[in-house]
Amino acid sequence: MSAQQFDFGMIGLGVMGRNFLLNMADHGFKVIGFDKDNQKTSALESDATAGTTVKGVGSLQDMINQLAIPRKIMMLVPAGKPVDDVIESLLPLVQKGDIIIDGGNSHFTDTLRRVTYLQQKGIHFMGMGVSGGEQGARTGPSIMPGGAPEAYPHIRPMLEAVAAKVDGVPCVDHLGKGAAGHYVKMVHNGIEYAIMQLISESYDLLHRGLGLNNDELHTVFDSWNKGELRSFLIEITADIFLQPDDKTPNRLVDMILDKAGAKGTGKWTSQDAMDLGVPIPTIDMAVTMRNLSALKAERVQASALYPETTGLIGVPKQQFIQQVHDALLFATIISYAQGLAQLHKAGTELDMQIPMPQVVSVWRGGCIIRSTLLELFGNAFKLNPQLSNLLLDPQVAKILHAKATGLRAVAAQAIQHSIPAGALMSALSYFDTYRSKQLPINLLQAQRDYFGAHTYQRIDQEGTFHTAWGKK
Ligand code: 6PG
Repeated sequence: MSAQQFDFGMIGLGVMGRNFLLNMADHGFKVIGFDKDNQKTSALESDATAGTTVKGVGSLQDMINQLAIPRKIMMLVPAGKPVDDVIESLLPLVQKGDIIIDGGNSHFTDTLRRVTYLQQKGIHFMGMGVSGGEQGARTGPSIMPGGAPEAYPHIRPMLEAVAAKVDGVPCVDHLGKGAAGHYVKMVHNGIEYAIMQLISESYDLLHRGLGLNNDELHTVFDSWNKGELRSFLIEITADIFLQPDDKTPNRLVDMILDKAGAKGTGKWTSQDAMDLGVPIPTIDMAVTMRNLSALKAERVQASALYPETTGLIGVPKQQFIQQVHDALLFATIISYAQGLAQLHKAGTELDMQIPMPQVVSVWRGGCIIRSTLLELFGNAFKLNPQLSNLLLDPQVAKILHAKATGLRAVAAQAIQHSIPAGALMSALSYFDTYRSKQLPINLLQAQRDYFGAHTYQRIDQEGTFHTAWGKK
């Protein structure tokens, strides 16, 4: 093939990079991939579908020379220094107008720095969230690009071709300026952490609390996946309960150590929510629960010091299963509400202009948090694209009203039976706080003014007040 004939180049041919590129080739685009590892470049070519144009090269220069102008180059390399290294090695080879895309889970502040750095050189840098894991990358991920709007039309046809489709609509859109793509993906992951934690707590209540075995748990989650809770995470959870262990006669789930790993995106979501002053307690709790799970040795020690013998939950089986269903649905909606409220605020505070209806639409398919609930949220943002919190939408309110009783009942059982349900309870307490016209913060303000002269406002007069407390 002569020079400059490939449509798209990929740097980093690990599982995600290879599958994303092969997906693009399956849609008729001519693709070229670079990796220092020869095995990966040959694996790219040997995995390609017959009749597609796929080439693997071991030199960056070689790849750059064969790309059509403006060059569309994506990297899928580990976040952090590797991304900066790739940029530095690309700089002598690319030219003004070329587009470099980072498809990994980079921190949005790094992305913003890189956007500014490359802008000065006339190069478009786009941070792009890709969700859906290995399978998604190959057959249809959810894609969250952000950055220079003028660069997007050049990559749009390719991204729309490879993205997951829901009702024929591709799960990709330009999601805002600067580092918006990576910010949206970060919050996606925060919500992912919350929902995974909520599902795990529901499992604990049904398994340890109610005594359901893995077959029964499969049946429960499988039936939930046919109703209001229908989603990717519920679907894989149902599957997990059936997976046999290949080393023992047990189910695999019972042989897995209860210690969670994390790559940090959930923590980043919480950290930035704190900076923005957006409350996302269910996501925070999910991060905290992973940290608590990691203290396995201490937990074992503490369990001997504080033994519990509360017995099984006494509520009739079907009734409790329904209550847990409602609790999980309620808390899942709250998790999305918190994450989306963060995106709403970040969009303006960080000047990213994040289009909320499009975010919800992109999450409908391909990604880890895809769920039938996204239809409901889509309608809410269609009605009001500036909606600051999903809880203010009348249709969402109707569902929360109907399901709150279930969560209250479940929380009471969790407390009585000493079953940790921090994320479920945090969702309820967020809800109860958010919908309270009156909070006890008048007292807290009084305390601040008492010891620190921090001042307060009054309910009957404008202005700022200070009192010499305790002096008669
Ligand atoms: C996705 C996922 C993915 C994420 C992993 C790891 O959307 O495909 O969000 O991008 O990196 O789920 O997350 P932790 O290792 O932090 O659990």
